Amino acid sequence: MTKVLIDCDPGIDDALALALAAGSPLDVVGITTVGGNVDLPLTTANALALREFLGFGDVPVTPGSAGALLRQTVRATAVHGAGGLGDVVLPAPVRGPSEGHAVDFIVETLRAAPGEITLVAIGPLTNIALAVRKEPRVVEWAKELIIMGGSYTRGNHNPAAEFNMLADPEAAAIVFEAGWTVNMLGLDVTLSAVVTSDVLDRMRPLGRLAELLVPAAQSYGVVRADGGPAIHDACAVAYLLDPSLFTCVPAVVDVETAGLYTRGMTVTDFKLRDRQANALVATSLDVKRFWDLVLGAYEGVAGR
Ligand code: BDR
Ligand code: CA
Repeated sequence: MTKVLIDCDPGIDDALALALAAGSPLDVVGITTVGGNVDLPLTTANALALREFLGFGDVPVTPGSAGALLRQTVRATAVHGAGGLGDVVLPAPVRGPSEGHAVDFIVETLRAAPGEITLVAIGPLTNIALAVRKEPRVVEWAKELIIMGGSYTRGNHNPAAEFNMLADPEAAAIVFEAGWTVNMLGLDVTLSAVVTSDVLDRMRPLGRLAELLVPAAQSYGVVRADGGPAIHDACAVAYLLDPSLFTCVPAVVDVETAGLYTRGMTVTDFKLRDRQANALVATSLDVKRFWDLVLGAYEGVAGR
């Protein structure tokens, strides 16, 4: 079974990404948390509640970095609510987080199984960057790195930058420069993963899981004319499960760290010029097959 370590900042769409992982044939070896959408104590508390609600069993939840490497904190409470999960109310978790720090957990988990574990990062890249700095061989040890972040066409938190990149641009720059291929699921594709009213209707009958999915979709950010929000982070897990859902193109991606108005922008060059690609950038998503995969997995969780 595919082994995956998920670094996240739940976050409504992080929760929906974890639900997708829970219902899929994946061996989740750990969940690490980072300050992002909300502060670290909240992202960790949400991950702990989700671990139990989604039936992740003994999968360790390990808290990591509270804030960006250099920058002042940016949060997305306007999108995810003050607690990070919008109007979702989950039972309080019984068990607490693991001892230790996410960065050590990432390094030691990859060291123990070189070439076997895919890293899926769906929050600011602070933990991943620190892991690379602490032990550069994580770049060789990770089977793959998949991120939700960036865009070659636009921003969301501001016109230039996607939230996860803006929240820690220096970390993102370290990760893109580390020597591996970053599988980049950016806004270019994730904005098509919209919970339309039809999708919402397919979520409603999913029993206990609907208690997470429906309020999550209904309280997530700005409700759009076509029915609902885009569940960005689920795209990263979907890519791990079935990369053929996406078209991906090699590119050189540089993260802007100095710009006055463009900090966190992922400057993407598909022409490569005289440089080697450091990223595989998703450029299209088969939306119908995406929802069939995601809702099928959700049905699996609901049926337990
Ligand atoms: C990303 O930013 C966060 O608000 C979401 O959880 C997602 O990871 C989308 O830009
Ligand atoms: Ca996230």
